Amino acid sequence: MTHVHVVGLGMGPQHLTAEGAAALAGSDYVVAVRKDEHDELLEVRRRVATDHGLDLVEVVDAERDRADPGDYPGAVAAWHAARADAWARVLGARGGTATYLVWGDPSLYDSTLRVLDRAAERTPLTWDVVPGISAPQVLAARHRVVLHEVGQPVHLTTARRLAKDVAAGQRNLVVMLGSGASLERLAALPDWSIWWGANLGALGERLVAGRVGDVLGSVHAAREAARAEAGWVMDCFLLRAPA
Ligand SMILES: C[S@@+](CC[C@H](N)C(=O)[O-])C[C@H]1O[C@@H](n2cnc3c(N)ncnc32)[C@H](O)[C@@H]1O
Repeated sequence: MTHVHVVGLGMGPQHLTAEGAAALAGSDYVVAVRKDEHDELLEVRRRVATDHGLDLVEVVDAERDRADPGDYPGAVAAWHAARADAWARVLGARGGTATYLVWGDPSLYDSTLRVLDRAAERTPLTWDVVPGISAPQVLAARHRVVLHEVGQPVHLTTARRLAKDVAAGQRNLVVMLGSGASLERLAALPDWSIWWGANLGALGERLVAGRVGDVLGSVHAAREAARAEAGWVMDCFLLRAPA
């Protein structure tokens, strides 16, 4: 039987909680997915493993078929199944207690828990979850804002869904999983307010806030500057309709 501590790493080693460190101290190794040859976030995990005197065991990520965006759920399900096979092979062969370091928190746009569910159908496996600091939390902290107005909701969504969610009446959204191209869609909302951040808590961190129509150019430039400095870029933002 293999046991996995699924530990939220936050946006880097400085966010590892005492509970996460205790999970690492009780582990035989760290397991991590390699997405490509130059995986900067894998290197962050390697540093955490080394700092805790643990080996990092790599699972090479399954290829994801992005050819047919029409069947997004189908493509993701196939990808999760291929990932589960790879995880079951590595964890079944190695056994013992592993820590998997999730970027941010495992509850937000992360497939680890779904993949473990499926891997457990292939090899004897148990797991527990240690929460971490998510990107929206760091975004709110950096901008010193509350993610919603008093007593009001916040809608957490993806850049892919943004136009649909706005059309459906959402007025206060946190948007993740975007790209430079998806930022273009913000041009349709010039009077909304944005609090944007890239590479939060990491090399290349950039912040921009203001009226969308005034700051969209700065957001694009800051995104490119973050990528140039760190070699990678991830961003998210809070978007609020005018009162
Ligand atoms: C696969 S999701 C993982 C989210 C993560 N589990 C969390 O709790 O924040 C990746 C998305 O999270 C956001 N993100 C992750 N790290 C970030 C960072 N350092 N700065 C800004 N956004 C980040 C971006 O929207 C990115 O596209």
